[in-house]
Amino acid sequence: MSDEPQPHSGPEIENLFAETRTFPPDPAFAAAANAQAGIYDEAAADYVGFWEKQAKERISWFTPFGETLKWELPFAEWFVGGELNIAYNCVDRHVERGLGDKVAYHWIGEPGDTRTLTYRDLMVESSKAANALLELGVRKGDRVAIYMPMIPELPIAMLACARIGAPHTVVFGGFSAEALSSRINDCGAKVLITADGGWRRGKKVGLKHHADEAVTQAPTIEHMIVVDRFGDGAHMVPHRDLWWHEIVDRQSEVCPPVPVDSEHMLYLLYTSGTTAKPKGILHTSAGYLLGAAFTHWAVFDIKPDDVYWCAADIGWVTGHSYIVYGPLANATTGVMYEGAPDAPTWDRWWEIVEEYKVSILYCAPTAIRAFMKQGEAIPEAHDLSSLRVLGSVGEPINPEAWRWYKDVIGGGKTPVVDTWWQTETGQILISPLPGVTTTKPGSATFGLPGIDADVVDADGTSVPNGGGGYLVLKRPWPGMLRGIYGDPERYKQTYWSRFPGMYFAGDGAKRDEDGYIWLLGRVDDVMNVAGHRISTTEVESALVDHKSVAEAAVVGKNDPISGQAIFAFVTLKSGQEPSDALAVQLREHVAYVIGPIARPKFLLFAPDLPKTRSGKIMRRLLRDIAEGRALGDASTLADANVVDAIRSNTGKAEED
Ligand code: WTA
Repeated sequence: MSDEPQPHSGPEIENLFAETRTFPPDPAFAAAANAQAGIYDEAAADYVGFWEKQAKERISWFTPFGETLKWELPFAEWFVGGELNIAYNCVDRHVERGLGDKVAYHWIGEPGDTRTLTYRDLMVESSKAANALLELGVRKGDRVAIYMPMIPELPIAMLACARIGAPHTVVFGGFSAEALSSRINDCGAKVLITADGGWRRGKKVGLKHHADEAVTQAPTIEHMIVVDRFGDGAHMVPHRDLWWHEIVDRQSEVCPPVPVDSEHMLYLLYTSGTTAKPKGILHTSAGYLLGAAFTHWAVFDIKPDDVYWCAADIGWVTGHSYIVYGPLANATTGVMYEGAPDAPTWDRWWEIVEEYKVSILYCAPTAIRAFMKQGEAIPEAHDLSSLRVLGSVGEPINPEAWRWYKDVIGGGKTPVVDTWWQTETGQILISPLPGVTTTKPGSATFGLPGIDADVVDADGTSVPNGGGGYLVLKRPWPGMLRGIYGDPERYKQTYWSRFPGMYFAGDGAKRDEDGYIWLLGRVDDVMNVAGHRISTTEVESALVDHKSVAEAAVVGKNDPISGQAIFAFVTLKSGQEPSDALAVQLREHVAYVIGPIARPKFLLFAPDLPKTRSGKIMRRLLRDIAEGRALGDASTLADANVVDAIRSNTGKAEED
């Protein structure tokens, strides 16, 4: 039995709204677009040949590759035998061809401090950081953990690792010590790069104490490098901890990029599964870089003088592919912002767009909905006319938000690219091409050139237009994950067992009458809160970890702002009494164990939980209860009284 997401056995997901508006590309935009219509046919005729050509054009090789694709389902090797270096491709080669003074990042700290890093600066800084890692004994293949706020040293640290062939694992700065230590332990990282902390909503958010706590549980860490963001000092453990400025600043500015094989591990990025053990999604070098760089060029129509801003956190895959590797491979000028969109006011993003003349903005629907809630007056007070492409990622974007984004932010003239992909896919797979595709608000439209995306029914048969089912990929692609770190069986089970020969993404989808793909959300128990995938099991484990809790079940409840909000059903140990104070305590406990992002918004004390006869909690029914709708199929329910008892109580759900 797989421990991983499987499609519902119940009815197929329905699509209840019909969106009929269409937006063809503007002819002037289309004429100048990077990707033209013919690219679909070119890729369809010979997808392997298509990627071969792209790899020769876009990547600088130290040793040319032989075979383009070795595909032993479900294990892919791309650009076999080739050698390259990712940092060289992202930085050095641009300096060599005269782009040393081009800005790589305009960085904006939340308090208003700024830094400008040119490609030459990035080369020098990442070389010095790489030399520091070498001094600490890190070698090609050794893993380095990175736990940092959104400061320039974060991409510098990633590039430093790539320069010497040391795979990194970036752990989102909002995660707890426990989440950090479990990830470090899974990959056996030798060095941890962190900071004293970062700014968030006007407050200093400390990281070093979490890092310290994590390292007490993570014996493989030999050293910690700490960036001084605050200048307040920090408790430094002698021999183990080093300030970044002390070890990095004194290094040589030259560090030759180490050639690595095409399939050398570039990074691990952990995502939640439905078991508590996080999955180390493994990405390698050449295929990943190509996937990120090609899609960044084609989907965002990147031109040399664009100012591109992806407002994600680098701790998520969006930041890896579309703040760091894709944009840098394309020698793009980017904006990087440390803080929250409402700090100090909801004008912040639009001030940044205005000041830096941002031409391309890429963000999550959750951010768009949060801005919608604040009203149009705020963005309208700013000159946003520099914007020419808008992107969306992370969850389905509802048509209203899509229209608002296009009209209010894009002045009605910008194309909106709704981009579907995953940590596992490494690169955007389903998206409009802004100069080619006629868009429909809320649809990610079609698979990109070279990508074979399909919607299938429970038997794996392609659904006709108008049908709904499960999203699958039917061909390998260069940026795809190469596995789950240390667990090839789980890799096969999770992604390749549900539909033989196809990659199952875990998402529901429908194809409309015109063949457009519409994403309908996760079909499993992983919640998507503000664009972040959070495993129900991890939150449940955190609740049960509290001394008063007997059992917990967690579901995602639809939420107008965050996509889904966490709704926790909690059964107390006997002798424990439900109370408001306890509800607060339990929420804080989850925030402590997993991180604030996982703090349940709703919490309901329940006398018991609905289960199948084999003892499995029926989250599907709990979702119905949380949404306040009629129950679906309850035939496998062991004790119907349990559900009635919970339903009669729902009015008492504590809302945060
Ligand atoms: C969801 C983020 C609808 C989806 C890059 C996917 C989307 C999961 C879209 C991956 C989109 C991402 N429309 N849903 N445009 N983009 N998703 O790994 O459920 O954090 O499986 O990667 O987010 O989330 P992840």
